[in-house]
Amino acid sequence: MNNNDIETPYFLINRDLLQQNTDTFIEGMQCNWERVKLSYSVKTNSLPWILRFMNQKGVMAEVVSDEEYDLAIMCDFNPENIVFNGPIKGKEHLEFALKNNSYVNIDSESDLDVIQSCNIYSNRIGIRLNIPPALFSSKDIEYTEDGFRFGFSVENGSFERALKKIKNQCDIKKIGVHLHCNSITRSLNVYRAIAEYVVAVVDKYKIEPCYLDFGGGFFGGVPGKTTPSEYFNVITSIIKRTPRLRNTLLLAEPGSALIGSTVELHTTVVDVKDTNCSRIITTDGSRIHIDPLWIKNGYLYSISYKDGEKRKYEEKQIICGYTCMDHDRLMVLMNEPELKAGDKIIYQRVGAYSMTFGGPFIRYLPDVYVDSNNELQLVRRRMKTEEYYRINTAQSMQ
Ligand SMILES: Cc1ncc(COP(=O)(O)O)c(C=O)c1O
Repeated sequence: MNNNDIETPYFLINRDLLQQNTDTFIEGMQCNWERVKLSYSVKTNSLPWILRFMNQKGVMAEVVSDEEYDLAIMCDFNPENIVFNGPIKGKEHLEFALKNNSYVNIDSESDLDVIQSCNIYSNRIGIRLNIPPALFSSKDIEYTEDGFRFGFSVENGSFERALKKIKNQCDIKKIGVHLHCNSITRSLNVYRAIAEYVVAVVDKYKIEPCYLDFGGGFFGGVPGKTTPSEYFNVITSIIKRTPRLRNTLLLAEPGSALIGSTVELHTTVVDVKDTNCSRIITTDGSRIHIDPLWIKNGYLYSISYKDGEKRKYEEKQIICGYTCMDHDRLMVLMNEPELKAGDKIIYQRVGAYSMTFGGPFIRYLPDVYVDSNNELQLVRRRMKTEEYYRINTAQSMQ
């Protein structure tokens, strides 16, 4: 199938690139530490094809809801290869996860209560640390004043209280430690600070964690940015300073670093119009497909002009999406060849928080193809109106 024959909008996953990003990440961990495991952050892009790809590569699944846990099981992940995170785990799923040897990172007070009520012993329980914002430069993180939402603070005693609460359900001297920290810059300094902090924490509580989970938030697959090997070189050079961490299992759970750079969104210009103020280009893509948080201020893109004819340059063209929202504006092109209906705009590196994030708003989530050695395979078909109707009415419950 040729790209030009495919109806837009659609996402296109580059399989080779996904393989390369995943291999590079695994190698980057392995060349710095002996015991490592990589898991994939399912929420970043939960497309079943991607989950099966990761499973086949021996990558684990990191999930943050009962639904994601079920999805990972449906994609044939062994429960032993699931990392169960997040503050909202249900009792039934938590019980199953503990019994079946998933990694379980406790994140909230309700998590603690549920885990206590399960009363199951496991040697794969961890606690997420609420990392003090003061460890970081204010340009690297948000919430410098209010701090992060997740995990338990050492500083106010809640980490210690959590340890005491679960002392009958695991060996708290070997409790796992989860350290994910959202940073704006994905800077090496963030990981340096986290590694130094965890060394201090394990020394303070005299624990030898069965694992350290450094979470996600890494760069990956973007030329010129920090590589996985550079991150793990910094992390391991710090954690190896204390004998308590020398035999620990190192986990990471990246999402964007694996999938972000491997996906394109292909769209078509459907209308060109001049208002009294501007040239408006309406396309069949939307900002909800590639920027559902409405925060991006630019995209990597390419344009394929329909007929190859020479175009005059247009001073300003506002590229808009198909939704009936005035602010569905993707970008402004300045002094570019004028666009015409039928031209294609292709957005690159849009694999994270995109194809499974935007909802069925006005139109339904686009088709997804995978490109393996120039062979295109349809791996998700756009929902039909009848399907939308069925799952959004009581009929779906019958
Ligand atoms: C706990 C946890 N792990 C992993 C990730 C994945 O992060 P990223 O996609 O930036 O690698 C996130 C994202 O917020 C997260 O909250």
